Formats: sequence, structure tokens, C-alpha cells
Amino acid sequence: MVEWSQDVPTDGSIELPPDPSTLDAIGRNHSMETALADLVDNSIDAGATHVLIQIVKVGGRPRSLYIVDNGHGMTPTTIDTAMTVGHRREYRERDLGHFGLGLKAASFSQARSLTVMSKAAGHDAVGRRWRLDDGPQRGFACDVVPGQFASEEFKRNWQIPIGESGTVIRWDDVVSFAATNDPKNVEKILNHTITTACQHLGMVFHRFLEDDKISVEFQVHDVDLSFVGPPVPVTPLNPFGYARPARPDFPKTLTAHVDGLSLAFRCHLWPGRSSSAQFMLTGNPVDHQGLYFYRRGRLLQAGGWVGVHAPHRRLALARVEVEIGTEAIGLFQFNPEKSRVLVGPEFAMLASAAQSSDGMTLAQYFEVAEDVFRAANKRAPKRTAMIHPGTGLPPRLRSTIENEIPQVLGEKPIDIRWDTFPDDSFFRVDRDEHTLWLNKRYRKMLLGGKHGGLNDLPLLKSLLYLLIGNVFEGDYLGPRDKDNIDLWQAVLTTAVQAERQ
Ligand SMILES: Nc1ncnc2c1ncn2[C@@H]1O[C@H](COP(=O)(O)OP(=O)(O)OP(=O)(O)O)[C@@H](O)[C@H]1O
Ligand SMILES: [Mg+2]
Repeated sequence: MVEWSQDVPTDGSIELPPDPSTLDAIGRNHSMETALADLVDNSIDAGATHVLIQIVKVGGRPRSLYIVDNGHGMTPTTIDTAMTVGHRREYRERDLGHFGLGLKAASFSQARSLTVMSKAAGHDAVGRRWRLDDGPQRGFACDVVPGQFASEEFKRNWQIPIGESGTVIRWDDVVSFAATNDPKNVEKILNHTITTACQHLGMVFHRFLEDDKISVEFQVHDVDLSFVGPPVPVTPLNPFGYARPARPDFPKTLTAHVDGLSLAFRCHLWPGRSSSAQFMLTGNPVDHQGLYFYRRGRLLQAGGWVGVHAPHRRLALARVEVEIGTEAIGLFQFNPEKSRVLVGPEFAMLASAAQSSDGMTLAQYFEVAEDVFRAANKRAPKRTAMIHPGTGLPPRLRSTIENEIPQVLGEKPIDIRWDTFPDDSFFRVDRDEHTLWLNKRYRKMLLGGKHGGLNDLPLLKSLLYLLIGNVFEGDYLGPRDKDNIDLWQAVLTTAVQAERQ
């Protein structure tokens, strides 16, 4: 028998550069929304305050996509390292970038061609392009886009404030867009893509959006019609956005210090199941119990107990924030798509050692979470669903309503607005427009000297919403609804007139 040798001998070395087709294989775990999040990471690292994502339709079908930002841009030198697969630049303390892969992996997971055009202050615009279909004979030779073209693309009317610098990322032959020519279907798929992406970006970057550090907007450009649709803003989606916690002593921070490592678990308890967007997030809320890992303000993973506990229906209200700080970075690994966190054995040790200042452990937190879940289910066996309000109420009030009242799905929100009426009646139910109109002639008197605005008189409007909201449901007005409307109209009109006198 040949004896086993610990060392493997070598006989010189040969150069074996990777085959360019590897470009095609990277980023396979991306979806459209995680890919876009990777590019928004880059815009944030570049100090951008505005990001515009424009989907370009040609011949009735979406084909290309632009991501434009007003960050510090790239110089003729940095754009080459930016296009290099796996080039890690020097990262600052707050940078979201880590692998030197994101731009390329995210782009080639969605499109066959990636063009980067950028301008740094005091430099000319530069452009580079990678195309997957150029064939292996091209090797890793990257196309140089003429400065003139890069500059024209940069200067297009992007409808975000771009000064001296910024970056335009362009995807062509986007493979993940609709594979149909049926205009109705294209529209549906496009809307779905934008809605899903808005939710994901709203969740991943909710802290940046809440702090107004960045604004992200979607827009559709129909080239044949020379028409650019209205911007769709990404709004923050905070997984901890409940109006008040289940118990006044929550959220509770449990900390652990073991072998020079420390970690904090900020344990939250939702007050009950809710149909609000913040509770539902992007899917089944049962999947959203668990740990929420943040790195530098960006959400890396939304839920899952990573071995600390098994998922359970009764833990549906338990969500825990964990910050991956520089001192604890060795405890974690995250995938290049930045959508999942892997934890090492030390993590389990820290989780079992963690305690709050009043002595609560994670095991006790789970017990409390189950108790609260049971109590919440008993307390609120079933609340009647309502269509949620749209414009007319202040955002805070809307989010309380969304947290408290289950939503009737698939209905447009109810707007509450003022209008000039031909008569004295106090309100008008407009089911076609999904609007509860209020008679303008009483507005000034009701405001009593305060300034009016879109969201004025929230107390009055929320009372009306609670009273009248349900008549907007269903395909037609039943006799009972009609009679109720007459009754409310008679009483409220008399009341508002009495108030005026
Ligand atoms: N919008 C942008 N504005 C300015 N520079 C950018 C922009 N996008 C990319 N870059 C430059 O390109 C480099 C490569 O980006 P890429 O996303 O591939 O890797 P990364 O951000 O360094 O790391 P990660 O793989 O973790 O995302 C960045 O480090 C940055 O220097
Ligand atoms: Mg990146």
C-alpha cells in the first residue's frame, strides 16, 4: 500500500484564466428585486440621495432598464475596476459593498447586457459594457462606450436632481421581463414586478427611506409613444412598524458577552396579527417571525430563527432585530446576493447567554410571545374587514387603521375629500371613484380658524370612515346600505348645521 503523504507536491504552475462564460453563472440566486437592491446598495455607497429605476418599453414590451443615481460617479480609472468581476476596493466603515461582485452578478442574473455610464465631478463621462452573447473568443475584453454617448445618456431628462456627478446603469435584453406580447398581460406583469420590487426595496432600505437619506422611484418609459409614466415612489416598509407593542416593557434588548464577543437581540412583540403591510411584508407573515439581521442600516435577512428556535405558528408575533456590527462580523457570513445570513456555532452560544437588564432570556421571550399570541387571539376573535383609507387622513392615522382593521383585499382604498356640493347635504358616497366627498361649505367652520389641507380634520374623517366605510364594499348598494346612508345624511347634516349656528 502506498503511504499517505500530508503534503501534495507541485511541478511548476500554469496560467488558467476563468472562462468568460462564468459571467453567465454568477448571481443565479437573484430575483429582480434582490438584483435591484444590490444596485441601490452601490448608489447608497456612492452617496446618492436619489435613485430612479426606469423600465423601457419598446414595441409594447419591456426590454431595458435604467438605474440612475446622483452619487459621486466613477472616474475613467474607477469604472474599470468597477467592471472587474470580484475586484474588492477598499471599503469604508459604513459601506454596503463587500464582495466586488454585486453589480455584475445582479445585472447578469436579469439581463444579457450591462452598460455602465458614469460621470465624476471634474471628469468627462465614461462608459463600459459587458455582453454575455459576445462568445468565448472575446475573453474578458470589456467594450468601451464612446464618451459622447455616455455623456448624452447621463444628460437625459431623468427627473431626479443630478448635478455634476452620477451614474447610469443600463440593462438591455432583460430576460426576466414578460415573455408575452398581449398588452393586458404585459401591463399586469409589469405592475406586479414594480409592486414586488417596491415592497422588497421598501423593506430592505426602510431605515434609509425613513431617515430621508435616499429616495427611490420607479417609472415606465414607452419609447414608441414617447410617454413617461408618473413616478412610483418606494415607501418604507418597517417590519417593526406596529402602533404600540403587545406589552409596555417591549421591545426589550437582550445582550450577550461571551469570549470577547458581544451581541444584542432587540426583541419585539407585535400586539396581534394584523393585515397591515408592515406585518404581512412580502408573503406569509408566519415566514416573517424570527431574526432580522441588519448590516450598516440595510436589512440582510427578514425573519427565520437560524436554529435558535423552530418556526411555529404561535411565534407569529415575535420579531427580533440583530445588528451585525464590525465587532461581531466574524460571527456571520452572508451570501453575495445579500439576502441570507449564515451563522457560526458561536452565535448559538451568544443566543443562549443573552439576557435583558431585568433578567429575561430568549427562551423566556419565546414563552411570552406564545402567551401574547394566545391572548391576542382570544381578545380579538375576528374583526370585520374594511377597505382601508387612502388620501385624506394623515399617514400615522392610516397606519393605525391598517394595523387595527383587517383589510378587504383587492379593493381600491377609500379617499376622503372635500368638494363643492349643489346642496346642503354633508357627505356623498361615490362608489365609482371610491371617494367619500364632504361638503366644502362646512369646511372653514369645522376648521375653526386652523389651516385646511389634504389631511385636515382627522378626528371627523376617521369617525366618518368607521361609520360609512363599509358601504364601499360589494358590487352594488343593498337596500340596508341605502337606508343607512339616508339616516346618516339626515342626522349629520342637521348636526353640522346646528354646529354652524
Ligand atoms: N452607482 C455607482 N456609483 C458609483 N460607483 C459605483 C456604482 N456602482 C458601482 N460602483 C463602483 O463599482 C464597484 C463594484 O461594484 P459591485 O457592486 O460589483 O461591488 P461592490 O459594491 O464593491 O461589492 P458587492 O459585491 O458587495 O456589491 C463598487 O465598489 C464601486 O466602486
Ligand atoms: Mg455592490
